[in-house]
Amino acid sequence: MTNQTEALPRHVAIIMDGNGRWARKRGLPRVAGHKVGMERAREITEAAGKRGVKALTLFAFSSENWQRPEDEVSYLMDLFVTGLEREAKALHKNNVRLRVIGDRSRFSAKLQQRMLEAEAMTADNTALNLNIAANYGGRWDIVQAVSQHLQNNPGISQVSEQDISDRVQLHDEPPLDLLIRTGGEIRISNFLLWQAAYAELYFSDVLWPDFHPEELDKALAAYAQRQRRYGKTGEQVTGESAQGDA
Ligand code: IPE
Ligand code: IPE
Ligand code: MG
Repeated sequence: MTNQTEALPRHVAIIMDGNGRWARKRGLPRVAGHKVGMERAREITEAAGKRGVKALTLFAFSSENWQRPEDEVSYLMDLFVTGLEREAKALHKNNVRLRVIGDRSRFSAKLQQRMLEAEAMTADNTALNLNIAANYGGRWDIVQAVSQHLQNNPGISQVSEQDISDRVQLHDEPPLDLLIRTGGEIRISNFLLWQAAYAELYFSDVLWPDFHPEELDKALAAYAQRQRRYGKTGEQVTGESAQGDA
């Protein structure tokens, strides 16, 4: 039997999907769902920390989300700025280290500044590592890792897996154990393509604004039941001999 700490994922990532549908179901504008979604992110961060998760990575805005209507994008940008201003202190008080992953160059100077400030303030915290993926794309991540490597090693003609692993976002975090997607869609939507190679996947029909800590607990319970084989046989993993083995 696996013990409690083995059964608890060290690193959890969440595709927080379903805000727009949550709002539309209530006859509200889509952005009302983003507002409640932000509160849920706060609640789930706190719950993850309490459960003993070491790293939590939340997909807040994808590199494809710029294609949304202009007013929705600008609402989300404002929400990031006010959210960072409001939440940074609380995160710091709770000993949470905040980092933003993704290509920040497209954000406003003000938003980039808030990101840097929040990161600097919380840099030495140790209870939970919270990573917010903003203007993040899994393909971008792999390309930036390769580009970095080529820049540092001009003239090379080969790149190894380790070279990429060392340079993708989150390379200094524990490996991704559990990837959750809320909102009912069964896809990755260009999230952590490299990092999710051996993550356990968990899909929930619950829309993100309704994803309260008891839903996180369901995901953690499902994870605890999984057997991670990494290409080996089940018997190799448990140390039992397979039936019929010599
Ligand atoms: C996820 O919720 C939040 C972002 C992508 C910013 P959606 O806004 O995608 O909600 P649905 O999928 O339209 O319901
Ligand atoms: C993924 O959700 C991105 C985030 C949750 C930030 P989307 O709503 O953008 O994904 P698709 O378009 O349904 O694949
Ligand atoms: Mg969506």
